Amino acid sequence: MNAREMAGLLDLAAPPKWGTARVLAAARNVEDLRRAFLRRVPRAVADFVDGGAEDEVTLRRNREAFARVVLTPRQFQGVAATDLRTELFGCPSSLPVALAPCGAIRVVHAEGELAVARAAAAAGVIYTVPSMGSTTLEEIARAVPPGTPQWFQLYLWRDRGLTRDLVVRAREAGYRAMVVTLDTPVSGARERDIANGMNIPPKLTRAAALDAARHPGWWWRFIQSAPPSFANVTDRTPSAADTTTMQYVAEQFDPGITWDDLSTVLDAWDGPVIAKGVLCAADAVRAVDAGATGIIVSNHGGRQLDRAPATFDVLASVLEAVGDRAEVLLDSGVRRGGDVAAAVALGARGCLVGRPYLYGLGAGGEAGVARMLELLSGELARTLTLMGVATPGELDASFLGAVAEHQL
Ligand SMILES: Cc1cc2nc3c(=O)[nH]c(=O)nc-3n(C[C@H](O)[C@H](O)[C@H](O)COP(=O)(O)O)c2cc1C
Repeated sequence: MNAREMAGLLDLAAPPKWGTARVLAAARNVEDLRRAFLRRVPRAVADFVDGGAEDEVTLRRNREAFARVVLTPRQFQGVAATDLRTELFGCPSSLPVALAPCGAIRVVHAEGELAVARAAAAAGVIYTVPSMGSTTLEEIARAVPPGTPQWFQLYLWRDRGLTRDLVVRAREAGYRAMVVTLDTPVSGARERDIANGMNIPPKLTRAAALDAARHPGWWWRFIQSAPPSFANVTDRTPSAADTTTMQYVAEQFDPGITWDDLSTVLDAWDGPVIAKGVLCAADAVRAVDAGATGIIVSNHGGRQLDRAPATFDVLASVLEAVGDRAEVLLDSGVRRGGDVAAAVALGARGCLVGRPYLYGLGAGGEAGVARMLELLSGELARTLTLMGVATPGELDASFLGAVAEHQL
């Protein structure tokens, strides 16, 4: 190579971008955002997000199920452009992906739920606002342009009056669908959190404070804002400051809950009801019989019952049982556009993601959540083009190949 040829290869014009913008721009996928997140938050926060229940069998199983998926492309289909837009429970969405409810996320980044709500609204994606959020449901509704569709996630407190009031508040604040989480009669044992003493609000033991000091950006934002709490219910339940989150859930949630209680609580709601945490056909049928118009096949991202099945593995049976009576979504382990394509090909209306947006949030606040959505939608568009379809609606089970026994 002569000097001229070498000069032709040099690219010194673009000034390097430092800090968060550079990290986000350099992320090629959700896993890159995860690595950036792990570097930027204290260990207890990283484990709070990344961890699962007990031996984390289900946590791993979720990814293994997607890794076994075979996508069979059709070539030369003339796909000049893709269109990822869809509708989820009557709400327009720029892609078949919504953001799952994740509680108390001001520990991940001080802007927490507000940053997520703004990024989702800007991307035209629906955010499911958690009842255990660290920002009130009213503040989150006000943070987005009027008319932006948002869903509300409901846990069922022992105090039925409190639970009903949340339903009424969500209705008055304009939420468009009620996502009722079924899989949390008690909290799963997230043993990483137990080891770290992770709590809401977090306890600053000497070790935690030292670790936090090694993450100055996180630390600075944290000490500038009020301690994270379960903002929707702080005036109605004892502070979780003196217990663990596991104890709080054990005291406040009702493990004696039945399907009948669900209909009573939802008397005050007249919009779509989406049952989250269904893992078998029988429960899908029960949920629809109890009034649900939608199902989220979910194992809570492997955070509740360890050894529960991977969601992708039970999706077909749920669809067969209620696919003609309810819209079916899936979450737990979705990290790639190809995962979304696989779930949609099997018959899901779309997917939700939880940790992926928390990785973005921890890595770069609102811009990090926006980057995650950009990466996922870019991957989905590319996957569809490679599969030979222009829209997710054209996918069906014929695009899913079988995995040979010897490969399992
Ligand atoms: C930090 C964290 C907090 C969560 N909090 C809630 C919650 O308050 N309510 C709920 O229904 N699900 C909660 N989930 C579960 C998510 O809604 C979703 O089911 C799960 O994250 C999907 O798996 P994924 O993280 O692999 O995408 C939480 C998940 C995480 C990671």
